[in-house]
Amino acid sequence: MFEVKTDMTAGTDHDALLIGLFADDRELTGVAKTIDDQLEGHLSSLLKDKQIKKSHKAVTKVFTLGKSEARQVYFLGLGKKADFGEETLREAVAAGFRHIHKDKPTDVAIAFDSLMTDTFAIRETAHVITELFGLTSYHVADYKEKTNEIETVIEAVTFYSQQDLEAVRAGITSGKVYARGTNLARALVNTPANLMTPTDLAEQATEIAERHQLEIDILEREDMEKLGMGSLLAVASGSDEPPKMIVLKFQGKSEWDDVLCFVGKGLTFDSGGISIKPKASMHEMKMDMGGGAAVLGAMDVIGELKPDANVLAVIPATENLLNGSALKPGDVIRSMNGKTIEVRNTDAEGRLILADGVTYAKQLGASRIVDVATLTGAVLVALGEWTTGAVTNDETFVEEVLEAGYTAGEWIWRLPAFTPYKELLKTSDVADLNNSPGRMAGSITAGLFIGEFAEDTPWVHLDIAGTAWASKPSAIGPKGGTGAMVRTLANLARSK
Ligand code: BES
Ligand code: MN
Ligand code: ZN
Repeated sequence: MFEVKTDMTAGTDHDALLIGLFADDRELTGVAKTIDDQLEGHLSSLLKDKQIKKSHKAVTKVFTLGKSEARQVYFLGLGKKADFGEETLREAVAAGFRHIHKDKPTDVAIAFDSLMTDTFAIRETAHVITELFGLTSYHVADYKEKTNEIETVIEAVTFYSQQDLEAVRAGITSGKVYARGTNLARALVNTPANLMTPTDLAEQATEIAERHQLEIDILEREDMEKLGMGSLLAVASGSDEPPKMIVLKFQGKSEWDDVLCFVGKGLTFDSGGISIKPKASMHEMKMDMGGGAAVLGAMDVIGELKPDANVLAVIPATENLLNGSALKPGDVIRSMNGKTIEVRNTDAEGRLILADGVTYAKQLGASRIVDVATLTGAVLVALGEWTTGAVTNDETFVEEVLEAGYTAGEWIWRLPAFTPYKELLKTSDVADLNNSPGRMAGSITAGLFIGEFAEDTPWVHLDIAGTAWASKPSAIGPKGGTGAMVRTLANLARSK
């Protein structure tokens, strides 16, 4: 679908051509110049008359009336070169593609060189453009009699460039894979909970493993019982759906050492349990496996790009429901590492299943752990739906995760983890830990609860309760699952 060419040759036929224009650009160059010549200077006169906007994210559409291989040209304002950077590039390109998608083209071209500056490398620029093309193309599937399935599908995307074409191609390859992994996670999150049970999630994981020849292991209830995963089993006891512990392995090095591990919350539906949630937005709790989905999306990327790293994925998956054998407030349970937990609130179930997920990850040889979870409503209050909250026990590791996030175009902000927060976890009279020590600093105590199980292993917790789900369409995707952290996790695995 993606092609790289140096010049527009006669006989090609594009529905849409995207051309970037900096505020500092006084004249047209490259492909834009070619088209301007075809139109006998029409574009440059429009530019001179200020009919083409150059302010950041502005899109001006020009019809070429059959005089060019590109039927419609979309000029994309990039603002001043001096203000241009990774974020402004992402914002502008996303705006350009959103505009183009509305016209339902089947063949799109990009004047790549017009989107380049000296400050941002060729490969990264091509990656960002391709990734955003994929992300803005995503649609939420529905189940209506008359479905919303898109009638027109883009069949070809051509990059025109006079730059190092190998670098352009490399960026296209990784960008394409990042978008696919992210859209996969989005689709998993958007799927209704009756169609995305722990069993379904395990099946999806199996498909990804088969696609890339990853090692896969899926633990059943009996295996969990043997391993003493009392904390995961306690949550699962309220549901008739069998829980699954999904384990994927990618070995990119000759030895199974220095293992980077992702632990994702795979709670396929969170009713709250006996501490039941209010009814108003309970239906959105199908998104509570967003952490697991992010991990699977990242494994799809990693499996495809095969970095020189060992990556382990662990996804405890269950529903949080309330049948007659459900977990009750006041129950005391014993986790896999032996610590006991008093369940003050059955709705604080994420940390319970992640506790055993993290313990199991350590048993499987994890040297560094990132857990990803839609863990607390409190993180939405603190950071909104744009920034993921981080909690850590390791200064160096968290910096790497923040950096991986920044290059991925995903914002992560670190929360404090000073001693008083940790003390709140030790407020049960009857157990080692209290799973719900109150409203104060809810996202921090939730994270630190998981940290109790990471112990001395370098660990970063990412709370995506805000970022995994968009309450309205965003710059890069529709309302619903966002695929948050797929690209960050993939970057982290590829960073060394
Ligand atoms: N899955 C929820 C967190 C959540 C809230 C995700 C809103 C997405 C949007 C989690 O299991 C939960 O219920 N957390 C409780 C914790 C509390 C009981 C300590 C919460 O945030 O209210
Ligand atoms: Mn809950
Ligand atoms: Zn939950």
